[in-house]
Amino acid sequence: MNVADLRDQLAAIQTEAEASFKSAKTVDELRSARSQVVGKSGSLGKLMGTIKDYAPQERGEVGKALNAANQAIQQLVDQHTQRIEQADLAADASQTAAFDPTLPGKRPPLGSVHPVTAVQWQVEAIFERLGFTVEAGPEMESDYYNFEALNIPAMHPARDMQDTFWLKNGLLLRTHTSPVQVRAMEKFGAPLRCIVPGRCFRYETIDASHENTFHQCEGLMIDRNVSIANLIAVMRLLLREVFERDVKVRLRPGYFPFVEPGFELDMSCLICGGDGCATCKKSGWLEILPCGMVHPNVLKFGGIDPHEYTGFAFGLGLTRLAMMKYGIRDIRVMNQGDLRSIVHPSRLNGPTVVERDRC
Ligand code: DAH
Repeated sequence: MNVADLRDQLAAIQTEAEASFKSAKTVDELRSARSQVVGKSGSLGKLMGTIKDYAPQERGEVGKALNAANQAIQQLVDQHTQRIEQADLAADASQTAAFDPTLPGKRPPLGSVHPVTAVQWQVEAIFERLGFTVEAGPEMESDYYNFEALNIPAMHPARDMQDTFWLKNGLLLRTHTSPVQVRAMEKFGAPLRCIVPGRCFRYETIDASHENTFHQCEGLMIDRNVSIANLIAVMRLLLREVFERDVKVRLRPGYFPFVEPGFELDMSCLICGGDGCATCKKSGWLEILPCGMVHPNVLKFGGIDPHEYTGFAFGLGLTRLAMMKYGIRDIRVMNQGDLRSIVHPSRLNGPTVVERDRC
């Protein structure tokens, strides 16, 4: 075909295309009309492949003509897509004449959340029902709040229990959420009930059961006559709610300088119910959390009179709790950002996350 004939044919293709696009009533119809023109075996598509059949000196001109035709077709497609979409909108509007703008909007679908967030929300909801507030403190902390005010003075051997990331600016990355105990006492005084979920850091080599970055949730209740019985009651309630079954708890002595007496709280094994199995190493008990009665020195550091008030505190390992609840065996999963490890919203029951003020 010579170049003049080609031009005629291109013009005819455009006219034909326009007519068939015009008659398309849906976007799908338009799409198939388009592919009959520009598809590989469409009227224009076929011509596109013929460029190599022209003499080299003609190819520039032929190429330009083909491109122009292609662009013109695309313009027609855009124009008719718009026409069809507008018609659809108009049809929708006439059908929804009774549209009520005061109806509540549609909630956007809730994404999945990290297992630690899921457990955190649940713990927050439980404690909020008990009148606890949810507080937050800085992750970059001072020696004073992280150790000193928790009855761990410089050179105290208990500092070795928590391998610390010291920062060049003289601060440190908090090794636990306990520093917020004294911050909360300073801010609110007594009586006081709060929990502090948050990220903590330790200078650890990472393996299946150790991480350098993990989550804890501190708990603190201070009032007149708060006793170990209150501590046990609150812990049982927490574990019953989180694991959705009645659990037995027991206290063993444990040493933490900021509590006296200090305990390790165990819970009857979830797998065997206390009979002894591989998970609980045949003991029937699972070590759940450290806790104790707030040391009088810590109350004093927080500006609270230990002769008038007593309190209990606990340090819940949120990361560990999430691993137990969702059956995650390797702690590294928690910080790897693997989307397969997040929790579907149907398994959640908790409040929405809100930004907290810092103590
Ligand atoms: N802060 C301690 C730790 O991370 C855990 C802890 C122990 C917290 C006893 C407490 C407590 O509140 O009473 O090792």
